[in-house]
Amino acid sequence: MQKANAKEQFLKNFGAPAEELFTAAGRINVIGEHVDYCGGKVFPAALNLRCNVYGKKTGSDKIRLAFNGIEGSVELDIHSLDGYRNLKIGNYQAGVALELQNKGIALVGCDLYYDCTVPFGSGLSSSAAIEVSTAVALCEYAGVAYDKVELAKLSQKAENEYAGVNCGIMDQFASAMGKKDHAILLDCATLAYEYVPLQLGEYCLVVANCNKPHSLVESKYNERRQEVEAALKIIQTSKNVSCLAELSMQDFAEVKPLLSGTLLPRTEHVVAECERVNRAVTALKAGDLAELGKLLNESHFSLRDLYEVTGKELDALSAHARAHKDCLGSRMIGGGFGGCTISIVKKSAVADFIAQVGAAYCAEIGYAATFYETSIEDGVTVSKL
Ligand code: GLA
Repeated sequence: MQKANAKEQFLKNFGAPAEELFTAAGRINVIGEHVDYCGGKVFPAALNLRCNVYGKKTGSDKIRLAFNGIEGSVELDIHSLDGYRNLKIGNYQAGVALELQNKGIALVGCDLYYDCTVPFGSGLSSSAAIEVSTAVALCEYAGVAYDKVELAKLSQKAENEYAGVNCGIMDQFASAMGKKDHAILLDCATLAYEYVPLQLGEYCLVVANCNKPHSLVESKYNERRQEVEAALKIIQTSKNVSCLAELSMQDFAEVKPLLSGTLLPRTEHVVAECERVNRAVTALKAGDLAELGKLLNESHFSLRDLYEVTGKELDALSAHARAHKDCLGSRMIGGGFGGCTISIVKKSAVADFIAQVGAAYCAEIGYAATFYETSIEDGVTVSKL
């Protein structure tokens, strides 16, 4: 249905049929939150919620963009890609195109129609999915070979420098490199990675959006990043480390007296969360889901109390999830201040979980949460139509 509709819309917008489909994934993160930009390990997985880009090469010097659900279109001139920073829609695409050009790639004009099923502002990385799918489309049309990890890095750079969000590498990496039914254990300091089967037996992950209106998320995110960078500088006066993730809990105890104000709890979160990632991967590999659930809860409490990126909506949603008898653990994912939670729930109890948690959340917060049917899929895909 959706596919046919998108193809029709492409034809309507651009007057000729689409010839290719490029997709990149939204993501969840099992554990390892707000540590990617501290050189920590993260454990994301790519979703069936995706940015689908229908495309056709035109050979002109324009990249034309149209979007499902948004009226009108945007035209990017490939000779003046620096000039679209203030666009509300189309700036991610322009940023990626400019980064490709800066790498010496001769861009070729094309028409692109975006049918994004990753909900915007949900903490499921719609922006990374848009960037990565665009990067792949533009490389294909330019006729250049590309490496998916390089495209993830380039997409992150575009988000940092063009869109002004100082994000880490996790989202773009997961969006590009995801593997069906696997999570990616990614060391953000080296980009070494390992695929780990996300096998939860009689349990599954339920993704829920707290639907908090999006506001000031980017500025608060950038502020956290500045705090941990300041903490690292102070710690480096006494320890020879290149990132906070290199500190053990023992090291943290030693440097604690150096840190004051918010820098202390922020650093404690990062160090403890890095340890939790290792324990979570061990638990998952051993099939110890109760332990994994406990670690998810601890991660949420740390993000709430030490890193202060949750808010009452995410706290309520995860607390109601935790209170359900067939839920092993629940936490916020992504940048926070709104967006989604993941919960480990018994498969046979999912409908009851959604009904109970949904009702309790709505009663407390005053509006409904959204629960998604998700599966873990591959990252980037390219197909001929
Ligand atoms: C956002 C960023 C990521 C990461 C998470 C928090 O999703 O884009 O790089 O920092 O927040 O873990």
